[in-house]
Amino acid sequence: MSSLHFDERVAIVTGAGNGLGRSHALELARRGARVVVNDLGGSLHGDGQSTDAAQAVVDEITAFGGTAVANRDSVATEEGGRAIVQTALDEFGRLDVLVNNAGILRDKAFHKMDGAMIDAVIDVHLKGTLFVTQPAFRAMREAGYGRIVNTSSASGLFGNFGQANYGAAKAGIAGLTRVLALEGAAYGIVANAIAPIAATRMTAGLLGDLTAHVTPEGVSPVVAFLAHEDCPVSGAVYSVAGGRVAKIFVGETSGAILEELTAEAVRDQLSQIEDQSTYHEPTSLDMATAIIARALS
Ligand code: NAI
Repeated sequence: MSSLHFDERVAIVTGAGNGLGRSHALELARRGARVVVNDLGGSLHGDGQSTDAAQAVVDEITAFGGTAVANRDSVATEEGGRAIVQTALDEFGRLDVLVNNAGILRDKAFHKMDGAMIDAVIDVHLKGTLFVTQPAFRAMREAGYGRIVNTSSASGLFGNFGQANYGAAKAGIAGLTRVLALEGAAYGIVANAIAPIAATRMTAGLLGDLTAHVTPEGVSPVVAFLAHEDCPVSGAVYSVAGGRVAKIFVGETSGAILEELTAEAVRDQLSQIEDQSTYHEPTSLDMATAIIARALS
């Protein structure tokens, strides 16, 4: 089988100064992509700013003969998103791949979480993904080609104590990915997401025995595949950790038709409502409503 190259392709990786983003940027650059290495160089909690993180990864890429440019704008503002995309267009004249990866944490039990903690995390993850993707999507739509890889999380898709802000943002990113897949389909744009687990500063001290088995490099090949022209899927979310790759999907049970819909009938037929022995996996709202219409007819 032929190997997957990115010659002539231009990629943006946000939050690429550390951890997973750095690894994604190196993987794409090694495969021939010209890469915009975005990172505002802040702390894990989103404080501060430095020019070093992005430039250090650019230096790593140029050291092995790759091509990359640093960008230090924040994903968390509309102007920042526009500037990141403009960097790719100004420096390389095109944009083929966007990997939305930048992230911070502000964990706290929900009853103690303040508004600033909610804003900071929603701004970087959910609004940040929207702010960078929109100008990128417009450029890709015009070019008739694009690959978008978003970063969701098991925290949002399955739930995690202390991460109401982060989980809400990460579930939102999964929903956004499905909408982008639908809106991009006619324009050669493919959008997918990963829910990774990797030992980085974000997970320091949290992964226990798993730490040694889950490196960022154990995630990036999946990003490279999803970012490649050959990727045949769109709107999917993959769980990726340490060489294990699995599909996460949204299903709906066949459900129950309640002759007389009362609170008591719901209680009494809960097991049939919840029965997962048959289920549908709609890939759009249209498909979901068609399934309901069929069941009711
Ligand atoms: P990390 O902290 O090592 O890297 C995140 C990078 O994003 C940092 O270099 C930081 O400076 C940058 N960043 C933060 N705010 C930014 C902003 N406003 N604009 C531009 N850059 C910004 O974290 P890690 O673990 O590499 O996380 C990468 C992504 O993967 C995040 O979206 C995270 O939520 C997600 N993720 C990570 C998991 C893990 O196990 N490490 C698990 C699930 C999701």
